[in-house]
Amino acid sequence: MKKINILGISGSLRADSTNTIILASIGELFPEHVSFKIFQGLDKIPHFSPGLDDTEGVKKFKDAIQHAAAVIICTPEYAYGVPGTLKNALDWTVGTGDLNQKPVAAISASPLNLGGDKALASLLLTLTALGTNRNESSALSIANVKRKIESGKVTDPETIAALQAQCDNLLKLIAESAADF
Ligand SMILES: Cc1cc2nc3c(=O)[nH]c(=O)nc-3n(C[C@H](O)[C@H](O)[C@H](O)COP(=O)(O)O)c2cc1C
Repeated sequence: MKKINILGISGSLRADSTNTIILASIGELFPEHVSFKIFQGLDKIPHFSPGLDDTEGVKKFKDAIQHAAAVIICTPEYAYGVPGTLKNALDWTVGTGDLNQKPVAAISASPLNLGGDKALASLLLTLTALGTNRNESSALSIANVKRKIESGKVTDPETIAALQAQCDNLLKLIAESAADF
């Protein structure tokens, strides 16, 4: 079976980030023919300014997206918004269309009751502007996330099922996609 590359992007830079833990758990839910990698280096991407040449950090980010058939973003909410590092990285792809038509799943996770819903709504707007390929099942918000993780893994059965549904939906979007990434 053809190998499929899927890229995970965490909106958090923290070493023990709950969002990065969710991505790591997602990596274990894909079938064997999927190679899932979490992007490292969001903090090496300079502030976006149109017209600036891509630096090494930006090139690494764009290459990782270009080599992936699909992307999963998992982000916290800060001050009701998407973390600046994540928005900044996504802004670099606007002009070059790296995420155009790319199947993308958007997940927010928060220790609070609302699950980072405002960050998720904002991220979805950005992903629409970037021309990503999504359907009505491509978004998930996870509330009270700290109760759903133990020893660095997602352990809550309902959350695992919701993450599995995201993986299955992403593979469906890839299979339906006319683009060959
Ligand atoms: C300054 C600050 C602002 C925050 N603002 C929000 C917020 O608006 N909404 C929310 O759900 N959580 C908020 N949080 C909580 C973060 O979602 C929480 O720290 C989360 O664990 C960070 O994600 P991570 O574990 O992946 O690093 C805030 C935390 C800090 C320190």
